Amino acid sequence: VSAIPLSANQCWNSLRSLYASRGVEAWNRHLPFHITSNPHIADSYAQVVTRFAQDLHRAGKLVPEEPLYVLELGAGPGKFAFHFLRRIGELRSSLNPGPPSVRYVMTDVSESNAAHWLDHPRLQPYLDDGSLFAALLDVQGEGLVRLAPLDRPGLQLETFANPLVVIANYVLDSLPQDAFRVSGSTIWQGLTSGDMGSATFGWVEEPAGRNPYGDADLDAVLVEQAGAVADGSFLFPLGALRGLRRILKAATGGMLLLAGDLDVSGLDTMPGLPELPASDGSDFFYFPVDLSLVGRFLARLGAPVVRHYPSLSLGLLAVATGSQPDELAETIHACDVFLGRNGPQWFGAAGRAIEETGAASLDHWLSAAAALCFDPYFLEATIAAVRAWAQPESLSPRRRERLAETLERIRAEVYWIPGSPDSYFTLAMLYQEMDCLDPALVCYRDSLAVTGPSADTFFNMGLCERGRGRPEEALGWMARAVDLDPQHVLARGWIAQIALESDPGSSPG
Ligand SMILES: C[S@@+](CC[C@H](N)C(=O)[O-])C[C@H]1O[C@@H](n2cnc3c(N)ncnc32)[C@H](O)[C@@H]1O
Repeated sequence: VSAIPLSANQCWNSLRSLYASRGVEAWNRHLPFHITSNPHIADSYAQVVTRFAQDLHRAGKLVPEEPLYVLELGAGPGKFAFHFLRRIGELRSSLNPGPPSVRYVMTDVSESNAAHWLDHPRLQPYLDDGSLFAALLDVQGEGLVRLAPLDRPGLQLETFANPLVVIANYVLDSLPQDAFRVSGSTIWQGLTSGDMGSATFGWVEEPAGRNPYGDADLDAVLVEQAGAVADGSFLFPLGALRGLRRILKAATGGMLLLAGDLDVSGLDTMPGLPELPASDGSDFFYFPVDLSLVGRFLARLGAPVVRHYPSLSLGLLAVATGSQPDELAETIHACDVFLGRNGPQWFGAAGRAIEETGAASLDHWLSAAAALCFDPYFLEATIAAVRAWAQPESLSPRRRERLAETLERIRAEVYWIPGSPDSYFTLAMLYQEMDCLDPALVCYRDSLAVTGPSADTFFNMGLCERGRGRPEEALGWMARAVDLDPQHVLARGWIAQIALESDPGSSPG
């Protein structure tokens, strides 16, 4: 078999098929997603989108009575979309002018991911009120961008009255790339021989020629990159560039792109061609993306870079068409504050620092929880300390009220997917320890709804009902605990105890 460019290798089709077949199970301990799917980053993006809408409004480029469409590429588990919709809703009701009404279009190549969104209880209100659409979209597709909405027809990018907001988190790194090595004035293309997983899978080099792609824009950026590298290797994100160009063309009314990805643009040049994925097709892989190269390519197409914050864990790129730089003053400022200064790098560092050293007091913890936008993962990571503070004997009424308010805000941010911690259960236990039995029961019910029947949950619900002075209900839950786990000694003990309490004349049995 002759050697072919990396972007043409079968490995990318295998990857796409893997995403399609695994669906949301891909995030069950396989792929990291917290950094791009938390309430804080969703707040950052929503702030930038809001300021973009305000800039458009000032420049007379917004039709306020028409919706602003937000198109998310490779939306995966759907958690980012959920947090974004919550944040943009809050901003809409608290700012004047707020953003116009948003229609959020979640897309992915994987039908099973989309089936998960349509089924997810947290997304139902948005699907029902028409602010959320689910559609299939292959970023690597050819020709016109056609959304395939799953729940209702009639979504055509060309008909949108306002500029389109495009969000691409950790998706460009799953699209085909090529690899080149530069030595003196010669550009060598890395060609792959063999199939992924086989012993012969490896690199062969060949001079790249003057116009490797036969495409003026792609070739120009390639040659420019080779000039900048001088001696070393680089990856060329062909799939990302072609995909974004297609979307840019479809967004005839203008576009703001917010892309977050594993970004190599701030790193030293690689000496040799990169390692090929060791997977035989049964495991995920990704190649980091050079977001500054993506930015240069889009700038050539008339979509200049607004801001770029490189980082290998999550670089961020904002690009906009249809506006002059001086019309984007608020957008630029919001990028600097929410993506740069207080962006995901701050979120990661602050969260880690508190998890490692612990919050000094409950008051500190409450402030940190608010600054991290009530992220349920923060509660999970600090639960031992919070449980100690939550004990009724050490909690003043004022602090108890503040803690309960914060827990309520955290509960509103829980978006459960298989394999993630059951934060409903964690919240329920805390409420129960604080003697807040009504919200504890609500959270236990939420936990049952997502993780299914559990003897411990039934048992705890029984204790809550006993605490609320409802022995019949308490016995009902205890009986369900024993049905599910006949060895549940505590539940058996409490059945006898509650029976005795309700009828002191009876003998314990
Ligand atoms: C690494 S995951 C990122 C998911 C999510 N955006 C996040 O930040 O966690 C990559 C996502 O892109 C999707 N994907 C892969 N290839 C794609 C393509 N060609 N077009 C659209 N989506 C694609 C996958 O199904 C998956 O949901």
